Amino acid sequence: MNSNKRPDSMERITTPELAEAFIAEQVAQVRAQVGDKKVLLALSGGVDSSVVAALLIKAIGKQLVCVHVNHGLMRKGESEQVIEIFQKGLDANLIYIDATDRFLGLLKDVAEPEKKRKIIGGEFIKVFDEEAAKLEGIKFLAQGTIYPDILESDGVKAHHNVGGLPEEMDMELVEPIKLLYKDEVRVVGSALGLPDEMVYRQPFPGPGLGVRCLGAITRDRLEALREADAILREEFDKCGLAGKVWQYFIAVPDFKSVGVKDDKRYEGWPAIIRAVNTVDAMTATIEEIPYEVLHRITDRITHEVPGINRVLLDLTPKPIGTIEWE
Ligand code: XMP
Repeated sequence: MNSNKRPDSMERITTPELAEAFIAEQVAQVRAQVGDKKVLLALSGGVDSSVVAALLIKAIGKQLVCVHVNHGLMRKGESEQVIEIFQKGLDANLIYIDATDRFLGLLKDVAEPEKKRKIIGGEFIKVFDEEAAKLEGIKFLAQGTIYPDILESDGVKAHHNVGGLPEEMDMELVEPIKLLYKDEVRVVGSALGLPDEMVYRQPFPGPGLGVRCLGAITRDRLEALREADAILREEFDKCGLAGKVWQYFIAVPDFKSVGVKDDKRYEGWPAIIRAVNTVDAMTATIEEIPYEVLHRITDRITHEVPGINRVLLDLTPKPIGTIEWE
């Protein structure tokens, strides 16, 4: 499958049988493409790269070298989970790199969303290039590009995983799920035997919390965002919304407003809740979160997260809002 256009004849993958057929086809194709060479994969821990990892482990086993880069923009506990699931669970060839300082250094004072995406994407490629140079015989770079990334890469956003590699980078791309919509990726993931907690995990953009920490990222505001996001996820888990809502997260803009805490003026950032439902991420509707839950989340975030003094709810469907808030 070398074309970036999904053929009209391609059936929507909705059943385990269709997924099996897709997997068999891709396994054969990947083996034919890479032969006995090694493949480097950016394993972010999101649904897309996890499914690619499982597919490639099935196709080529230890020829796959997974690299998990902690860019400092991960959700709370996420890097630890990647190591747990892939290294311990699937016995993957996994290299862990903590590049937090490198990414945050480059992003310092950069406020423009597209610039941030490009910096993060560019740095990712550099990190992998460096990693590839250290390893012997890496000829291929695998990516978890999916069809909406391709459809939207022209004009809407510079998704970090679309757009190709620099000429001088001597690696060929392996993108086995690039013609799939998100719902199909999940069906394929289940058929590959990945646990539900991974397959039905909400998607997380490559640039991570970088696109949700609006404007120029600072460490304190990024940390506030990470903690508030963890509280949102915890509360959604507790009340059963986690299994029902497609994607939910916090965004924190780079302005402060006046509040009052312990009888004192308390300037802080607002935390914005976004919770949406969708089938294929091309359009999305808003989840109606019960007020009781919203009050609890607001109470916890405003009391437990340093720097946050208000909680807001985004009611905008896609279109006109995108799912991410950047
Ligand atoms: P938008 O914000 O465009 O997002 O409505 C649609 C879906 O794509 C996810 N997203 C990304 N996924 N790399 C990815 O792999 C990215 O750079 C990226 N940006 C957005 C987003 O979270 C949503 O699920």
